[in-house]
Amino acid sequence: MTDATHAQRPACDPATVLDARFNRAIEAVCGRAADPQVRASGNPKFGDYQVNAAMSLAKERGTNPRALADEILKATDLAGIAAKCEVAGPGFINVTLEPAFVAARLGELSVSPTLGIPPAADPHAVVIDLCGVNVAKQMHVGHLRATIIGDSLARVFERLGRKVWRENHLGDWGLPIAMTLARLVREKADFARLTLDDLNAAYRGAQKETSTADLDAAYEFRCGPHRIAELELQYEPARAAMEHAKRTLVRLQSGDAEIVRLWERLIEVTMEQVYEAARTLNVKVGPENNRGESFYRDRLAGVVEAFAKSGLAKSDKGAMVVPFADRERPLLIQKSDGGFLYATTDLAAVRFRTYELDGSLVVYVVDARQRDHFKDVFDAARLIGWNTTKDGAESTLVHLGFGAVLGADKKPLKTRSGENFTLKDLLDEACERGTAEVMRRAADATSPTHGLPEAELRAIGAAVGIAAVKYADLSGDLTKDYVFDLDRMVAFEGDTGPYLQYAHARIASILAKSGEGADAISSAPLSLAEPAEKALALHLLRYAQMTLDVGRSLETNRVGLYLRTLAELFNAFYQACPVLKADDAATRLSRLRLCAISRTVLADGLSLYGIVAPERM
Ligand code: ARG
Repeated sequence: MTDATHAQRPACDPATVLDARFNRAIEAVCGRAADPQVRASGNPKFGDYQVNAAMSLAKERGTNPRALADEILKATDLAGIAAKCEVAGPGFINVTLEPAFVAARLGELSVSPTLGIPPAADPHAVVIDLCGVNVAKQMHVGHLRATIIGDSLARVFERLGRKVWRENHLGDWGLPIAMTLARLVREKADFARLTLDDLNAAYRGAQKETSTADLDAAYEFRCGPHRIAELELQYEPARAAMEHAKRTLVRLQSGDAEIVRLWERLIEVTMEQVYEAARTLNVKVGPENNRGESFYRDRLAGVVEAFAKSGLAKSDKGAMVVPFADRERPLLIQKSDGGFLYATTDLAAVRFRTYELDGSLVVYVVDARQRDHFKDVFDAARLIGWNTTKDGAESTLVHLGFGAVLGADKKPLKTRSGENFTLKDLLDEACERGTAEVMRRAADATSPTHGLPEAELRAIGAAVGIAAVKYADLSGDLTKDYVFDLDRMVAFEGDTGPYLQYAHARIASILAKSGEGADAISSAPLSLAEPAEKALALHLLRYAQMTLDVGRSLETNRVGLYLRTLAELFNAFYQACPVLKADDAATRLSRLRLCAISRTVLADGLSLYGIVAPERM
């Protein structure tokens, strides 16, 4: 995937500086520009960075790579940047940076409001399709992923300075909803007092009462007339319910005020749980993000017309389909009875998002099982040229298909009593576990949380529980299924969200204990004489590039990996370098400043996951 945001590089990242210097040298030596291939080195023994271009360039030119590396190195101006440079192995250039150079870059990062992230190069918007719940249905664990992942990506793009649209493509239109509505009307339900459980029951009831499966089978297999007559009688109520549902749908479609009002109430009841979950989860999804299937209802005929006019759709037994050159399966966009489909709505949504929302990147955070659907919709959109913004820039359409959440038995998550886990159950349980863990620790007299009021401990506990769930969801390969194991996720040790929150709280407590004011710390001269200080600083300087990389790859796990490494490098620094008991006042202040920057970056990184970072834990 190419993304224009990547074109700009973070100025305070030493790799950017090295890249520019070596680029110039390569041009001077080879007569043409080439990527110097600057990489952070895996082992500080070999310096801080490696420059790898000499090997491929030498091959191209038929010369000796070590000799070429020597030549490039001689032509590179690294005064004030590198303390040591040498050619090694088959032709790597190993660069050890000057601590003062690293300290100066870190100083720049610390005063940058974006932590070194350059302004976005692409002026177009990023559109994130997230959440996608269905009206009258309980929000499920799959919708949890669509919400958490979508919100995190939105946060990353906001951090990158992009205009972001969070689009909640609710399933709020069509026959199943009319069926539910019709049933509630027949039952004389009190719409003012409806709960989501009522809606669920009505939805299921409506599905069941309108089912004519046996009768349909009897027709299909041409059972005898007696049998069919018997079944027709038996299914009379089902037919009547379906007729009622269809009449309700027509009233809804034609804007009948009474039915529309009831329909809006169904949406309201359904969405209350979503907004509540959003608050608990600290995700930014509210009524302002609702643009469901119903929003596109007046555009569907236009979609079919556009495809027909351009010759891309053809009639097939009365239905309209878009065929593809490379596969058998066409995309059905209108049924023979004139009805539109999920795909028709999605085509209208693509056009709205690329053109009206001006999105040059549209990411659909939707269950991996909808892969074929999105492949077909995107291909059809490309065929007709709807993958362009208002000013004609190309839009990238991506389906980020995520895996399932499994229970310990590797089957879809169930509660202890064997029912499907609703989102609320799951979040309640996470908050409970987080609170238990925080309470247990607070009982220890040496804990910084010892003696805090219970309400505060509960708030920290909820933050821990939610961090556990979100981190587990975001820090792995998004496309894979994962096992939901709260015991592991809530632990303060290991690859967990609470571990990172804890690392943050520890730094906060060091800073608080120092007794120094924020101004004294933030204006202290930085010195990075110790290797552990320099290693930590170099990692902090990579924050901007990491964020750019997530924007380019949509791999949210890079954030988790980065933060884990940050916490480890911080611990190594803290072990090797006394902070509060440093030898002299200047060193103490410099180290406190390193702590403060680490804390800022850690908190900012956690915010990309929408994880709050408490002061005390
Ligand atoms: N409501 C759909 C479902 O639950 C998800 C919607 C995803 N977004 C979209 N543009 N199709 O399966």
